[in-house]
Amino acid sequence: MPDLAQLKLELREIHGAHEFTAYYDLRWRVLREPWMQARESERDQRESDAIHMGCWAEGRLAGIGRLHLNSKFEAQIRFMAVESGFDRQGIGTQILLELERHACLKGTLTVVLDARKSAMPFYEKHGYKSISYAGLLFDQIEHWKMSKSLYEAKKSNPGAPASPLTLL
Ligand SMILES: CC(C)(COP(=O)(O)OP(=O)(O)OC[C@H]1O[C@@H](n2cnc3c(N)ncnc32)[C@H](O)[C@@H]1OP(=O)(O)O)[C@@H](O)C(=O)NCCC(=O)NCCS
Repeated sequence: MPDLAQLKLELREIHGAHEFTAYYDLRWRVLREPWMQARESERDQRESDAIHMGCWAEGRLAGIGRLHLNSKFEAQIRFMAVESGFDRQGIGTQILLELERHACLKGTLTVVLDARKSAMPFYEKHGYKSISYAGLLFDQIEHWKMSKSLYEAKKSNPGAPASPLTLL
């Protein structure tokens, strides 16, 4: 397992055909391939108007996530995936917080997502609350709809990193 304390991490949006190839490949390998899903099943209708975030470790794409708007007030995060061997070292957290920051910049007050049961502790740690059962993916993976109020999060933690919410 790589020692992330020694690695140089870079967090930024995905750009260009080469990076998008690596991005969709990582998404497919982590979120689709283990359930025998075809290539391109890792994409949906919102790719063109979403924010695609990546975290590189020494030049290698190690984690990804995506944000799109459901409405003026609500953003949705999908396709969070950290490369095997890089998990539980804070990369998912960095991506999630950066996507939330972008949600703030877009003026939304709530972020929603459909969490795999196995990932719920990760989202709960970051203030997401489960709202309702969202069904089975690939007839196997239990999902729960979760939500986080960015406004409430900022109110209850005024010392949180600066964001447009400080203007509220
Ligand atoms: C879920 C995922 C994105 C989290 O990314 P990550 O880089 O591993 O998460 P972090 O290291 O930032 O975790 C932060 C905290 O969340 C919690 N957490 C993360 N993964 C967890 C898990 N599998 N079980 C329990 N708690 C977990 C822990 O409290 C962790 O802190 P700790 O390691 O100090 O205990 C990543 O593990 C992943 O890609 N999983 C497989 C794909 C997936 O399920 N994606 C989500 C689809 S909804």
